Amino acid sequence: MSQNTHIAIFASGGGSNAESIIRHFNAVDDIDVSLIVTNKADAFVVERAKTHAIPYYVHTKEDVDNGQLLKMLSEKNVDFIVLAGYLKKVGDDLIQAYPNKIVNIHPALLPKFGGKGMYGMNVHKAVVAAGETISGMTIHFVNEHYDEGQIIEQHQCELDEVDSAEDVAAKVLKLEHAYYPKAIEKIIRQA
Ligand code: GRF
Repeated sequence: MSQNTHIAIFASGGGSNAESIIRHFNAVDDIDVSLIVTNKADAFVVERAKTHAIPYYVHTKEDVDNGQLLKMLSEKNVDFIVLAGYLKKVGDDLIQAYPNKIVNIHPALLPKFGGKGMYGMNVHKAVVAAGETISGMTIHFVNEHYDEGQIIEQHQCELDEVDSAEDVAAKVLKLEHAYYPKAIEKIIRQA
């Protein structure tokens, strides 16, 4: 690879995954996290971007509709997009501009517990309500349909009968932090 690969991380919330990804790539020479994109100006991920001196971009709905977001990504020479707790649907223009270069993490074992409304604690509550004995996380490519892109990696954790949705969330998040950054690096290197 002659030139560095530039990643943009899209996040809407606390950004603990963004943090683990930033830290991972701080120690990698040829891949950088170049931009944090969020739809929420008050999301804690913005503080993380500031702490790490990474440029961030808070987009509006108009920015998505009029191509401004895509323009920003191209201005920053973004090659690869990582969704990490991003709660907006990715526009078709981005999907077409970044074929097989957008990945997402879902906090359950897809195809179970995916689709509309299945985000955040809703997922873990549904897992507990269904009496599942395992849960985990899924890394997948993003296509035009929620949670339906090709699965790249899944990792599992065992659940105890007494686990609350919060307990499940904590177990799954631990897997996310451990495996998502490495998976992203692997996907970029294989591309
Ligand atoms: C993670 O569980 C991720 O799988 C889901 O949203 C959560 C984001 O957590 N899509 P954080 O903002 O990275 O802490």
